Amino acid sequence: MSTYVLMKILESAPSRYDAGIRMLTLGQIDRIYERIALLVEKDQKVLDIGCGTGALSLRSARRGAFVKGIDVNSEMLEVARRRAKKEDLQNITFEETGIAEMEKEGSDSYDVVMSGLCFSELSKGEIAFTLEEAMRILKPGGKLIIVDEVLAVSLPLRILQLAVRIPLVVITYLLTQTTTHTVKGLAQSLVWSGFQLESSQTYQMGTLIQMVARKPNGE
Ligand SMILES: C[S@@+](CC[C@H](N)C(=O)[O-])C[C@H]1O[C@@H](n2cnc3c(N)ncnc32)[C@H](O)[C@@H]1O
Repeated sequence: MSTYVLMKILESAPSRYDAGIRMLTLGQIDRIYERIALLVEKDQKVLDIGCGTGALSLRSARRGAFVKGIDVNSEMLEVARRRAKKEDLQNITFEETGIAEMEKEGSDSYDVVMSGLCFSELSKGEIAFTLEEAMRILKPGGKLIIVDEVLAVSLPLRILQLAVRIPLVVITYLLTQTTTHTVKGLAQSLVWSGFQLESSQTYQMGTLIQMVARKPNGE
């Protein structure tokens, strides 16, 4: 619980990232990502924001979607490219770009925009920008899928979460000079950006959330 902040340390050792994150989430992240992939259909166009080593991108590509994964960490992308090559997946590309470059994507051009454990690395302003851009680039009726760390709703769990989290934030900051934060007010931000919330599910004592939202069809 709430050990996700340690993923910043794992990001500096990308070859060990997947095994590390699996351990930190007790395998739960794999199970969640497998279920998310089921929401992606053959031939759909998918953008994976902060794709890292390709956990969500590769699963979507295996289902026959055309996937673009973007990330600012070239070493994480290197691992993702190696994995795609090993499986001979031709329907996937990885680009070393940040969210700012979403501006280059065409309007109404994606069926699915997804992001796993990346919003917790973005500032409030970056999250607002990303949601705005996701709304623009999704086709009407297109899906936005986000998985990330949030604060538990119940007070005792929240206290426990912070008690575990704070020392880990300090350790992570000492080792990487960076940290992550829990994503706050995501449902509200989605609605403000014009999305219709379709489903919301929490895991790990309410500290990990999966949200699926839709760009309205305009009917
Ligand atoms: C914890 S990793 C998650 C990777 C992958 N989505 C997964 O679930 O395994 C977060 C990723 O977000 C990327 N990231 C952070 N800030 C970003 C930004 N501004 N634009 C694009 N990617 C970013 C990091 O480089 C990192 O690879």
